Amino acid sequence: MKNTVASLLKMKETGEKISMLTCYDYSTAKLMESAEINMILVGDSLGNTMLGYPDTLAVTVDDMIHHGAAVCRGTENTFVVVDMPFMSYQPSVYDAVVNAGRIMKETGCNAVKLEGGAAVKEHIRAIVDAGIPVVAHIGMTPQSVNAFGGFKVQGKTEEAAAKILQDAYDIQEAGAFAVVLECVPSKLAALISEKLMIPTIGIGAGDGCDGQVLVWQDMMGVFSDYVPKFVKRYADLGEIMVNGFKAYDGEVKSGAFPDEARGFKIDDEIIAKLADK
Ligand code: KIV
Repeated sequence: MKNTVASLLKMKETGEKISMLTCYDYSTAKLMESAEINMILVGDSLGNTMLGYPDTLAVTVDDMIHHGAAVCRGTENTFVVVDMPFMSYQPSVYDAVVNAGRIMKETGCNAVKLEGGAAVKEHIRAIVDAGIPVVAHIGMTPQSVNAFGGFKVQGKTEEAAAKILQDAYDIQEAGAFAVVLECVPSKLAALISEKLMIPTIGIGAGDGCDGQVLVWQDMMGVFSDYVPKFVKRYADLGEIMVNGFKAYDGEVKSGAFPDEARGFKIDDEIIAKLADK
């Protein structure tokens, strides 16, 4: 079944949980499509997992389009959301609409995601008015890592929690059709999920959200620079891959790979003629 804005809103209404994973390439997108994951996020976390930056700030619109288009080529029914990177929407409402439009036109994605609450509500409203569905992202917003002084849980005090709840109301009122809640206390995320009409997708936000998102390399054990507390490992592909690479290295060096069956044949006569040249 094709996932759409309407089907995702219906899942919220009926209490069916929404699965979302990050993805940055064609082959992995095809595997997620086979697993019937509801939503893929082409996250600007590709700055960390694919490009090796310490944070997401250096990621460009062109990076997002390059990876987003590859993911869209690998999906049919999965709902694909592409992140708007740092400084592609913050400077002005105009920049926000132009860059959201470019991302949608050049990737074929179904929606864009941007970080922030009250501060970006006019940006969200204008993008939605242009016909582009928006997922908001509040709580710990990685593009503001320098303002937060690190990747820290947000909303623990009464004032901070009230601000996040107000952000949630603001982005819903501006027209976002879903919101990512990152690194906020579970009870606050559950309260926000109860109060909003639109689905909440949690990451480090407990089980009271309408859906969950994880970075795929974290949950499959492929990215190990750091592993956040909220990550659950579903497989250790990292170990499987290293063992495969080691076995290949050993066989190349011993001559066991490639064996005859993996080669291509030619007439011995041709080789004999060439040998005389
Ligand atoms: O970029 C990303 O991967 C994200 C998730 C952490 C939600 O925004």
